[in-house]
Amino acid sequence: MELDNIIQQRKSIRKYTDQPVDKETIEKILESARLAPSAVNFQPWKFYVCTSEEAKKAVRDSYNREWFAAAHVYLIACGDHDKSWKRPNDGKDHCDIDIAIAVEHIVLKVTDMGLATCWVCNFDAQQIKRFLQLPDSMEPMVLLPLGYPVENYEADARNKKRNAFSEISEWI
Ligand SMILES: Cc1cc2nc3c(=O)[nH]c(=O)nc-3n(C[C@H](O)[C@H](O)[C@H](O)COP(=O)(O)O)c2cc1C
Repeated sequence: MELDNIIQQRKSIRKYTDQPVDKETIEKILESARLAPSAVNFQPWKFYVCTSEEAKKAVRDSYNREWFAAAHVYLIACGDHDKSWKRPNDGKDHCDIDIAIAVEHIVLKVTDMGLATCWVCNFDAQQIKRFLQLPDSMEPMVLLPLGYPVENYEADARNKKRNAFSEISEWI
C-alpha cells in the first residue's frame, strides 16, 4: 500500500475474526518498531509478545473489555526510563515520545498487512508491571491487541471526525 493509503485506511479496530496471527507476521510487525527513530537513537523500548494463555489472561485482566479479549495476540510496549534521552537544558524525558513513534509504526504496518489493532492505554499498568516483574525504570505504556479485522468494520476510515486544518495549524 502507498503511505497515503495506509494513513487513510488506519483506524482503531475493535472486532477480530477467528483467524490466528502467525509468528512470521508478528515478526514483520515488530521489525517496523525496531526501525523506528528515537531520541539520540537510544531505542528505550521493549515489546512483549503475549501468545501464551497465561500472558494473554494477564493482559486481558488489566483491561477488562469484551472486544479486547477477542484478540489473538497482544503486544505490550514498554519504555525504559533509564535508557531514554533526557534533554539537558530541562531534563525532559523523551521516553513517551519514542514509544509512541514505535507503536504508531506498528499500527501502520499492521494496517499495511491487512491486520487490525487498536492503541490501548487505559489499562492497569501496575498489574502488567507486576506480571512482567519489571524493574522501576520500565513502564508498560501501550497494549496492542492483534487480529484480523471483520469485513467492513465500522464506517469508512475517511469519515473520521477530525479538526479542520484551520484549527490544528497556524502558518507564521
Ligand atoms: C495514546 C492513545 C491511547 C488510546 N487508548 C485507548 C484505549 O485505552 N481504549 C480504546 O478503546 N481506544 C484507545 N485509543 C484509540 C482512540 O480512541 C482512537 O485512536 C480515536 O478515537 C480515533 O479513532 P481512530 O483511531 O479510529 O482514527 C487510544 C489512542 C491513542 C492514540
